[in-house]
Amino acid sequence: MSKSRESRLEELQDLEPSLEEFRLEVIQGLSQSQKTLPCKFLYDRRGSEIFDRICDLPEYYPTRTELHILQRHAGDIAASLGPEVRLVEFGSGAGTKIRLLLTALDRPAAYLPVDISRDHLVAANADLARSFPDLSIAPVCADYTEPFALPELAGARYRTTAGFFPGSTIGNFTRAEAVGFLSAARNLLGDGAVMVVGVDLVKDLDVLLAAYDDKAGVTAAFNLNLLRRINRELAGSFDLSHFRHEARWNAELERIEMHLVSLRDQEVAVGTRRFRFREGETIHTESSHKYRLDGFHELAREAGFDPIEVWTDERKLFSVHALRARQETTPS
Ligand code: AVJ
Repeated sequence: MSKSRESRLEELQDLEPSLEEFRLEVIQGLSQSQKTLPCKFLYDRRGSEIFDRICDLPEYYPTRTELHILQRHAGDIAASLGPEVRLVEFGSGAGTKIRLLLTALDRPAAYLPVDISRDHLVAANADLARSFPDLSIAPVCADYTEPFALPELAGARYRTTAGFFPGSTIGNFTRAEAVGFLSAARNLLGDGAVMVVGVDLVKDLDVLLAAYDDKAGVTAAFNLNLLRRINRELAGSFDLSHFRHEARWNAELERIEMHLVSLRDQEVAVGTRRFRFREGETIHTESSHKYRLDGFHELAREAGFDPIEVWTDERKLFSVHALRARQETTPS
């Protein structure tokens, strides 16, 4: 008689940023001479939904290209992680990619999705628990750009720990921040851990700009939704028709920038604070850095990882890297 199997979906560890943190970061960002808002706040419930629509746009090549690479090389990627892995995913999103990876893995032991959006985490993981009954799932609601600890998993036996950071979300960081993030991930995961990272590549400017300024205006709605969120959660007075979305290529830093351009001189309230905008002045809401393969390898090495493999599509639009956490040699 076989033992009945139950999926082990652990209680969510909740470190979601508070409203107060949101308020402080918004006020701080809007007080700078180049106004800026942290892109992590783009993902409220509505923002996450709009982002899922972006991923299906004909112009937005990253998601479909990365999926294609993961599909095509799932066996190799899984082999680089090995059997009975404890897998930490940074920013879990809709869950399509993790399904692919989990299916290819040899007896995955545990899955620890870390995401800033609690709503997304709860929905996606209930489904996953049904599909992978032997897997321990321990969701963590946290801003993974800040230090956090991995929850203990009672009863989950694993051989190795691995990280998964798909979607080229690493592109949201500046180069220095990306080194900082990977170094922290290295310490969190431990010596020898393999980290699988999706990285978008430098390419034709037309292709890049179209991906961040689609014909249907979905990316514009995604960007503008941040102002709507501020209005709702922080008693803001943004008139969304007085701003427009703009995508720019910053050639020096090799990144796409999203801005919200003020269409007139105006004053906007956020709670008790007031901010003045000149016509044409912008709020910088997101950067999406694009890399070259050797440039990313160099970055990974600086963060204490050795590149072990890289997979790309035929058009070299996107790349998936396997990196191994270097053994830290302690100076004597
Ligand atoms: C989820 C950060 C990878 O930079 O391409 C998509 C976000 N912003 N369209 C990206 C995004 C505008 C996306 N990342």
